[in-house]
Amino acid sequence: MTQSDQMAIRVAVIGAGNVGGRLARGLTRAGHQVTVGVRRAERVADLASHGITVTDPASAAAASDVVVLAVPVPALADAVRSLGPLRGKTLVDATNAVGVPVPEGHDTVGAYVTSLAPDAFVVKAFNTIGAEHLEDGSVGGTSAFLPLAGADEGRPTVVALARSIGFDVADLGGPECIGMVEDAARMWIHLAFRRGWGRDFGFGVLRQ
Ligand SMILES: NC(=O)c1ccc[n+]([C@@H]2O[C@H](COP(=O)([O-])OP(=O)(O)OC[C@H]3O[C@@H](n4cnc5c(N)ncnc54)[C@H](OP(=O)(O)O)[C@@H]3O)[C@@H](O)[C@H]2O)c1
Repeated sequence: MTQSDQMAIRVAVIGAGNVGGRLARGLTRAGHQVTVGVRRAERVADLASHGITVTDPASAAAASDVVVLAVPVPALADAVRSLGPLRGKTLVDATNAVGVPVPEGHDTVGAYVTSLAPDAFVVKAFNTIGAEHLEDGSVGGTSAFLPLAGADEGRPTVVALARSIGFDVADLGGPECIGMVEDAARMWIHLAFRRGWGRDFGFGVLRQ
């Protein structure tokens, strides 16, 4: 964690699969207070061995200021419903509509999540790189580019979280920029699976 980001943030990670498990470990190592919310705690015994509290989704959300959704898109409505009140919390949408359409009536998955949790500050983040690079925010020792967008009230905290893991963060702006973040993920997925790049890469930014 850098000097400016050194405050521990209370984070709930909902889902403990590829993304949730890695993010929970990365955020814990960065010094944050992480609680993982799952439906069946017995499936994720390894997280407890990393000192991470594992509980049900509602208890995890209640104990946290930031809640990260790391579940499949078709499970989002169910998962958000299981969290209880989210008023004033930052809700991070780390999902991608892979193999399923963006939910009907919405331009982006992030807009759909916003409709499910209108009282929360929804931020789209952590969806533009393979899960294996979410734990330390880098590829081959170089910080990976991580674009994010969403509610003004939530973005600074998510920027701090992502930087604390090690990402080179680009704050794209408000909810109207969420589509760009989802497009970046579509490009990563296209290169990885349709163009044969495989999963072991991330995007980077050149600066002078
Ligand atoms: N894999 C990647 O490289 C990657 C990268 C960036 C973004 N993403 C996106 O991140 C999301 C998660 O992907 P993943 O690869 O981590 O999936 P995954 O390995 O299949 O894990 C999904 C997790 O969601 C949980 N879950 C499912 N329905 C739930 C519900 N209703 N309430 C609470 N938890 C629920 C599952 O728990 P149970 O064990 O109880 O079913 C599981 O822990 C997806 O939207 C994906 O597109 C994936």
